[in-house]
Amino acid sequence: MKIFITRSIPNRGVELLKQKGWEVVVSPHDRVLAKRELIDALAPGQYDAVLCLLTDKIDGEIMDAAGKQCKIFANYAVGFDNIDLEAARERGIMVTNTPDVLTQTVAEHTFALILAIAHRIAEADKFSRAGRYHGWEPELLLGTDVSQKILGIVGLGRIGSRVAHHAAKGFDMRVLYYDVKRNEDFERETGAQFRANADDIFREADFISIHVPLLDATRHLVNAERLRIMKPTAYLVNTSRGPIVDEAALRDALKAEVIRGAAIDVWEHEPELTPGLADLENIIITPHTASATEGTRQKMAELAAKNIIEKLEGRTPPNLVRPVPTPPPLPR
Ligand code: DGY
Repeated sequence: MKIFITRSIPNRGVELLKQKGWEVVVSPHDRVLAKRELIDALAPGQYDAVLCLLTDKIDGEIMDAAGKQCKIFANYAVGFDNIDLEAARERGIMVTNTPDVLTQTVAEHTFALILAIAHRIAEADKFSRAGRYHGWEPELLLGTDVSQKILGIVGLGRIGSRVAHHAAKGFDMRVLYYDVKRNEDFERETGAQFRANADDIFREADFISIHVPLLDATRHLVNAERLRIMKPTAYLVNTSRGPIVDEAALRDALKAEVIRGAAIDVWEHEPELTPGLADLENIIITPHTASATEGTRQKMAELAAKNIIEKLEGRTPPNLVRPVPTPPPLPR
């Protein structure tokens, strides 16, 4: 068997594949491959499997270049909006992702962002390094308490529910959530309250954390209108996918102090940031590193490799993804 990996990943995944006696080719470029480069690297159909990253746009053309003997594209990410699932289905190609192993890490990062934006940690760090601290002041860099505030979760999947758990159990926060389905067990466990209308989350919460996948129905879910209905004291946090937030609208809302602040790990046009956003003090920006701990990135590599192994040895990979049925538009 021969496997192509589109960019160097933590070693354990590569080792698992090599232990099988298989040939593993890792792209020699430590960067995202352009579409043409990826097509050239895969052609003329020599690989049985491809381990790809969320930065690779995998469409029908790439799948055709990989050829009929290529049975699986194993994504090194839980999100899979970079892969055309319909094209994969038409060609009988399997697609897998890496859920669960990164849940804790992304939830921790989300909470780090919540605490950091509320307590103005990045601003305070910059201020201190600039030599601007001349002694204790009663009103220096005043922030917002997190404990006992209202956290609004949009999307109560694995990561959203973990963030909600930390909020309820660790910070005595009242949790509201919106999801396409209600989870009464979770409500009993955490005291969380369901809102059937996503706008109610935006109206009521002090901190809003986004945890939905990127779909046509969720693109720009956070737009100027929803930012306007948030409390002026509220904060927005996004660790899901950048295009779920209209970044220009967010910049304008932060500039005009329509909301108090925001923290984003994912950007609408990665790796480009919407002009003007980085000039603002009331936003914290991390470069899509919510899952970036050594342990988790190794586990993701192992899981992507395991998915390939299961498929190439004739079993069903554990993390098979299927086209997501288009959900109805968010209720208003
Ligand atoms: C994922 O796995 O989808 C994350 O965005 C990676 O950090």
